[in-house]
Amino acid sequence: MSTIRVLVVDDEPGIRSGIERVLRNFTVSYPFMEEDFDYEVIQAATGEEGLEHIKNSQVDLVLLDNKLPGIQGTEVLDYISKNRLDLAVTMITSYASLDLAVAATGKGAYNFVPKPFTPAELKTAIESASKHLYLKRMTLQMNAQGREMRFKFLSVLSHELKSPLSAIEGYLNLMNSRVLGSNLEEYDESINRSLERIKGMRSLIMDLLDLTRLETQSGEKVKSKVDLTAVTNMALDTIQPIAIQRNINVITHIDQDVNFFANSSDMEIILNNLLSNAVKYNKDNGLITLNLEKLTDSIVLTVEDTGIGIEEEDLEKLFTEFTRIKNEETRFISGSGLGLSILKKTVESYNGTIEVKSKYGEGTRFTVVLPLN
Ligand SMILES: Nc1ncnc2c1ncn2[C@@H]1O[C@H](COP(=O)(O)OP(=O)(O)OP(=O)(O)O)[C@@H](O)[C@H]1O
Ligand SMILES: [Mg+2]
Repeated sequence: MSTIRVLVVDDEPGIRSGIERVLRNFTVSYPFMEEDFDYEVIQAATGEEGLEHIKNSQVDLVLLDNKLPGIQGTEVLDYISKNRLDLAVTMITSYASLDLAVAATGKGAYNFVPKPFTPAELKTAIESASKHLYLKRMTLQMNAQGREMRFKFLSVLSHELKSPLSAIEGYLNLMNSRVLGSNLEEYDESINRSLERIKGMRSLIMDLLDLTRLETQSGEKVKSKVDLTAVTNMALDTIQPIAIQRNINVITHIDQDVNFFANSSDMEIILNNLLSNAVKYNKDNGLITLNLEKLTDSIVLTVEDTGIGIEEEDLEKLFTEFTRIKNEETRFISGSGLGLSILKKTVESYNGTIEVKSKYGEGTRFTVVLPLN
């Protein structure tokens, strides 16, 4: 239980004590709020007194009369909105000045209740102001967390780009000072390693571009009828060279004419990421099995490998940005840890699901289901 502090600014003592009485045993709860709220009432007979309370003590809700002996309610309201105070104001006012109360909502008052009001009307107004305040505070909090996430993201990112850059710089310095003599062949290894690091950076940057595209686009992607059969075959072609090098066999069962209304790059993201992982984390002489099936209400894609597998405890974090599972098997495999997080966001943007089953040391199966319509 948490307490909401309600400041009542009204020159009629009867109104103030009446409100206090009504709210004494009143509580509100909503399914989306973590706890229930009860109320504590603070009374002020003038606008000046009300401002004192607002400045000096924590106030959450204000019930504000407009016609007051000294400064008027609207001036109190001005102070609140000018200082962007985190509270919700409800005007309580007689019928005669209803127009004024309506105008006050333009000045930042959340609501107004005409006097005289019944206890039930007061409770309804208090309940709705509480909900408003709660949601407003939640939004602010979520924005703050978003900032924190972005910051974490940037720091991981700079770290990820810094190490390949230093490596390349090192190799170039080595060549620049002719450490191994003036014969270019001597530097083959440095050159190849530099190219390898550049490839890594390029793939990280490509991943980031996918990610920002996902984050910033609010559903206005260009969509059309995409031939998933063709996209799948193309993705298979891309991994063939590496698969051949490592003697990995690829078996496929691909339905013909599997069409899906989508953005074609999104579909490429899904297939390329699953297949690239299936080769990368496979074993030499291993196997990849890909199925693409069109059912009546969905399209099901499974990509299974006979690779290194993933331990049970690691499965959960797999889809989080920058997750790379570190063990003896993965030590020499490079990657940014972004592929699966991008994949999941993409699949979910089509109301689809992705599931993973794995046995450490034996292999992994990813299943993507995309609902039709
Ligand atoms: N098929 C798989 N078998 C075993 N481990 C896997 C498999 N797919 C992913 N993983 C593990 O999950 C981690 C995250 O995969 P993800 O595709 O997100 O990133 P990545 O492959 O490291 O980098 P990239 O951004 O280049 O794809 C990998 O680092 C790897 O440890
Ligand atoms: Mg990957």
